[in-house]
Amino acid sequence: MKIPPVKGTKDFYPVDMARRNWIIDGWKRVSVRNGFEEYDGPIFEYLKMFQIKSGDEIVEQLFSLKDRGGRELAIRPEITPTLARMVNQQINSLARPIKWFSVPRLCRAERPQRGRLREFFQWNVDIIGVEDVLADAEVIFCALDYLREVGLGADDIVVKISSREMLAALMQTIGIAEGELEPLYAVLDKRNKLPNDTFEEMLTKQVTDENKRNKIIELMAIESIEQISDCLQLSKTAKESVDELSRLFELLGVMGVADFCVFDIGIVRGLAYYTGIVFEIYDKASQLRAIGGGGRFDNLLQQFGGPDIPATGFGIGDCVLGILLEEKGLLKPEPQKLDYFVAFTDKQFFQKAIEIMAKLRRAGLASDFSYKTGGLSKQLKQASLANAKKCIIIGEEFNNNQLVVKDMATSQQELIEVNRFFTELKS
Ligand code: HAM
Repeated sequence: MKIPPVKGTKDFYPVDMARRNWIIDGWKRVSVRNGFEEYDGPIFEYLKMFQIKSGDEIVEQLFSLKDRGGRELAIRPEITPTLARMVNQQINSLARPIKWFSVPRLCRAERPQRGRLREFFQWNVDIIGVEDVLADAEVIFCALDYLREVGLGADDIVVKISSREMLAALMQTIGIAEGELEPLYAVLDKRNKLPNDTFEEMLTKQVTDENKRNKIIELMAIESIEQISDCLQLSKTAKESVDELSRLFELLGVMGVADFCVFDIGIVRGLAYYTGIVFEIYDKASQLRAIGGGGRFDNLLQQFGGPDIPATGFGIGDCVLGILLEEKGLLKPEPQKLDYFVAFTDKQFFQKAIEIMAKLRRAGLASDFSYKTGGLSKQLKQASLANAKKCIIIGEEFNNNQLVVKDMATSQQELIEVNRFFTELKS
């Protein structure tokens, strides 16, 4: 019986691995040029850690286990709690602002579907220690810096931005108590993801008062920041958070990415720890789920027993992004190349070929050879399948201390003295 991969997981054959590396190498390159340093944590953590503040949805999707010492553990479904835990541990020695990035392998027991797996990779970029909305602008810029670099334009993708702080203040005006906010956010987060009647059914369960419910529906239909004050009398906090949103858009304009960004009051985010600015990145044309999302989580470090330090950041997964790049023909991993393939004309030169190949590898050059002592044409075929740039052919000339170097692109051959070949390699 052949054993298939576990439901919701993906095997990465070399061709898939090349695609994954192409995406991840880009994430890392762009993070570094935006001033972020890489970190990582363990693949499993105490189960409790994800139950504190990530929210019910993610808790339901946990892969949990008990170790032999009876500890309740979970495979990480996200890295933000690990980030908060790690930063708290060394808070006194870390220079602020802390600008860190990571590319963790994550697991969520979701229903596998297009763009959603049970195991995936996620690019995380976070800034800790900056209260100003400039940090939110910077992480959004960083995400767009990558997406633009791979060839996605403002016609392809959009960053939808809102503020939970503003929403909380507006909900307060409507008469929603603070304790009711978190479960209400979970419902509002589903507004764009579910059919309208299913959403209204969920909302009715959460908000029984029809008057309040209608006000919420009216509010959620707002399309611009300016419209908010027409819809409701703004409290001082609401006004402040509207002003903060406006300043964020202004900064995004200064950074030259305003054409990618829109205000969308429907962006609430599914995770419970978000406190202020929230955003999600979408493909404009298709029905794909979010490419990524993030926002402010100003209370998480404190909720994890640390000091009161603000934070903001985002996560972008490899699945939706991979589908989108593939659809648009933008996924262009370079095929792996060999510098040299060492071939031989006759069995008697097999050992010499191994010797030359080993010398080339020691000199830092990617090289390979054939295990089979077959004909030269078969070996040359293998060399071109392996994308070798050059082929060294060892034959009768080797008895005169010479070898043939064949350029695989031009088919030009050069006879060269062995010692000269290696001296030239060094220089
Ligand atoms: P999230 O919205 O749960 O946020 O995930 C961010 C992105 O990860 C999603 O938009 C999606 O691209 C990808 N993703 C999530 N679940 C799956 C899945 N099952 N299969 C494939 N891709 C998936 C967070 O995780 C936050 N911790 C991000 C963050 C960092 N917020 C602040 N800093």
